Amino acid sequence: MLLIASANGDVGMDAAWEILAAGGSALDAVEAATRLVEDNPADHTVGYGGYPNLLGEVELDASIMDGDTRRAGAVAALRGYRAAITVARKVMEELPHVLLAGEGAARFAAELGLQRENLLTPEAEAVYRDGLAGRLPKMFRDSRGSVVDAMLRRAAAITADPERAAGTVNVIAQDAAGRIASAVSTSGWAWKYPGRVGDSPIIGAGNYADSRYGAAACTGWGELALRGATARTVVLLLSRGVALEDACRVAFSDLFDLETNSARVIMSMVALDANGGFCALSTAPDREYVYRRAGMRAYERAPRLVVTG
Ligand code: GLY
Repeated sequence: MLLIASANGDVGMDAAWEILAAGGSALDAVEAATRLVEDNPADHTVGYGGYPNLLGEVELDASIMDGDTRRAGAVAALRGYRAAITVARKVMEELPHVLLAGEGAARFAAELGLQRENLLTPEAEAVYRDGLAGRLPKMFRDSRGSVVDAMLRRAAAITADPERAAGTVNVIAQDAAGRIASAVSTSGWAWKYPGRVGDSPIIGAGNYADSRYGAAACTGWGELALRGATARTVVLLLSRGVALEDACRVAFSDLFDLETNSARVIMSMVALDANGGFCALSTAPDREYVYRRAGMRAYERAPRLVVTG
């Protein structure tokens, strides 16, 4: 058994491990862990309390993949429902589709009986308003400080904040039966253009799992992982016999080919292989991850390998 997550997944590690230790499925474990991160108002990059788009609306992206069947479910730009990962799982299980977006995703969440709520907490709203005030000239904003429609396009370029763009949660598990599942959930790029969708709900970009070989999941600048098909690249290389760390490094190296200004390449990844190997990498020097494997009494936190080009 093995559980690995981005550092902000720590709040879900014990719940997920309990499921695995009781003989539960990797799919149940990654969903349970991710739900706890989505519920955490202190995490402004995922679920309830996430930072909003340019209009002050929280829009969530999430995906889940069952590596045994390679079935997947995802939601993009979901508003008004915090449990994006559960909606994604239900898309996989109850619909003949993989990805629902926007109003359709919210309609489906309502049909599932989930509680609609305002996901923008006062704390996140205050940071949003300060962020806009600090970055946008007055002519971009109305009397309440919101961005005026005609300025949205230009505002999206000005407010792009790599520090706030980069949060997401990744959780990958391998259960006692060897089944691998992966989950990714995010509120996406803070102050994004409304409707912007990142890599998290795109199977192959921010998330991929195949129980035969392994799984990978990304946090960071989603546009890059979308262009690089980053998570799928890792698992495809595993299927060709490449060692896990080498596979991850190849995928990262491709990102530096996509964006020659290496300072702009903001990417982190957690990954595991079907033989119990795991690794976590980041282009940032100070990023950690959490993991637990059979025989450990608790999860541990560790620094990621740093990749700079
Ligand atoms: N990696 C999360 C995002 O770009 O939305």
